[in-house]
Amino acid sequence: MKKTFILLLICTSFVAMSQTNESYSQLIQNIGGRSTQSLNGHWNRLVDPLESGYYDYRKKPNPNGFFKNMTVDNWNQFKEYGFEDAPVLQVPGDWNTQEAKLYYYEGTVWYKKSFTYSGKSQRQFLYFGAVNYETKVYLNGQKVGEHEGGYTPFNIEVTKLINQGENTLIVKVDNKRHADGIPTDNFDWWNYGGITRDVMLVETPSTFIRDYKVQLKKGSKSVLQVEVKVDGNALQQNVKIEIPELKLSKSVITGNNGEIAFEQNVVPSLWSPSNPKLYRVVISTAADKVEDEIGFRTIETSGNKILLNGSPIFLKGICIHEEAPIRTGRAFSLADSKNLLDMAQQLGVNFLRLAHYPHNEYMVREAERRGILLWSEIPVYWTVDFENPVTLANATNQLSEMISRDKNRAAVVFWSVANETPHGEARSKFLTSLVKSAKAFDNTRMVSMALEKSQINDSIQTINDDMMDQVEVVSFNEYLGWYQGTWELPLKVKWVFKNDKPIIISEFGGEALSGLHGAINQRWTEEYQEQLYKNTCSMLDKMPNLVGTTPWILMDFRSSKRLLPKIQDDFNRKGLFSDRGEPKKAMFILKDWYEKK
Ligand code: GCU
Repeated sequence: MKKTFILLLICTSFVAMSQTNESYSQLIQNIGGRSTQSLNGHWNRLVDPLESGYYDYRKKPNPNGFFKNMTVDNWNQFKEYGFEDAPVLQVPGDWNTQEAKLYYYEGTVWYKKSFTYSGKSQRQFLYFGAVNYETKVYLNGQKVGEHEGGYTPFNIEVTKLINQGENTLIVKVDNKRHADGIPTDNFDWWNYGGITRDVMLVETPSTFIRDYKVQLKKGSKSVLQVEVKVDGNALQQNVKIEIPELKLSKSVITGNNGEIAFEQNVVPSLWSPSNPKLYRVVISTAADKVEDEIGFRTIETSGNKILLNGSPIFLKGICIHEEAPIRTGRAFSLADSKNLLDMAQQLGVNFLRLAHYPHNEYMVREAERRGILLWSEIPVYWTVDFENPVTLANATNQLSEMISRDKNRAAVVFWSVANETPHGEARSKFLTSLVKSAKAFDNTRMVSMALEKSQINDSIQTINDDMMDQVEVVSFNEYLGWYQGTWELPLKVKWVFKNDKPIIISEFGGEALSGLHGAINQRWTEEYQEQLYKNTCSMLDKMPNLVGTTPWILMDFRSSKRLLPKIQDDFNRKGLFSDRGEPKKAMFILKDWYEKK
């Protein structure tokens, strides 16, 4: 517990450095189990490409920026912005798919929401599920916090500034790309900007249960590790932990740092794809009570196998972007998650790679309810600024926020710290630091990253990467038959590996426009993609140490790198389903292959 929170403190200090008068609160665990007031709905918006609402004409921060939401009594007074008559955007949701003129927009949009608060709680926090990419938050004209990173939640305490009655919440969102950002300024998915997940006002007592972790101890099926942290002015608290179905009811007292950690013998029904058992867990103090649904399972490697609850498992997976079927745009709701999971389960999957960033909490919890194992990843993607300590602090902070939110989700079995990063000393140091942080935050799960294959020659394929020593499971992407050769190539190669670690093929595939049919050697047809999948599955049947695969990708997704007219039209077409949810012929090849696994 201590290590975890110290590291969390280091990471949060990254954000706190840019904080102002209100504290940036470390994540409140299980927001769905709290007393909340939704702030979703229509927000007024001002599109501000030159950030006139933040800087004066000399590019100096303007103390009377748009966040003041200035009102004037008459037209004689000078004011040249206003929210009351401004158009609205739906929150949650990206702006690119809500307004045609914002389709390509990368810059600042100001959001404004007026809300009434009449609660009686002693403390209030604003909670954002995710905002892409850089966020500044103002309540009643005062800056209360900011955040960097487009795919992880954050909460900001507003107890001192919230009004009983009317409140004005203004959020500056800037999705410009940065070479020193995480992700960097070059990535193969659409840069959907906006308040892309739920926004809530959270009410708590003055001392409340802010965080907890309840999971089986690494390597044990019967020892529960419980960690609880309370936040407030009375840190020594009587805390009760109950799991009624396990006849567990234990009272403990937190230390003067507000923390307690203990172990407890239990005999749970272990969570698995065939038995996605979740237990009601109740954590309470005199003033606070939080309920959660938590599954218990073990995950580890043994030789060249992955063991779930002590038994070898083959991970029948698929990669997935957080793209909504039919309407496209950033998926954000339980309904979107159910649609995507229904599609994935047509393949017979027991595993999903949530690429290339943490997905919304609805997706993680719904997959868990359905018994689907998950790979969760931070967007350290391609060529980030490995030499830059601020970039590393940013990546570490996003890693800590991803792990903090989902550390109680049995479905999550991998924390992934990177995808397809180029070899080099700075990259190795950067990734080694992230692997170490991930294990310090949570030593119960496997840590991995999607590497890139290499080869001895065209017919002998392998992987050769110093990062292989950093991970328990070696995962890599290969595109034989698409970016290298054509669909015969997978039938002509042999794979050799220098160590005996389990192997996951974290990406393979090729593109097809749904409904485009032709000869099997005609690229972009469903027949070509189908043949490529047939030959790749044959190749994988002969691959040593293979314990799973997540082909690229479940569904066509929008990317500004995909420009082939009449075929791609801003979509990467490697989906086994079209963006309208139509299955392509290759989908049935993978489905049949998994059925035989
Ligand atoms: C890469 C990358 C994906 C990308 C895919 C492709 O492996 O990880 O993000 O979309 O290849 O080229 O389609």
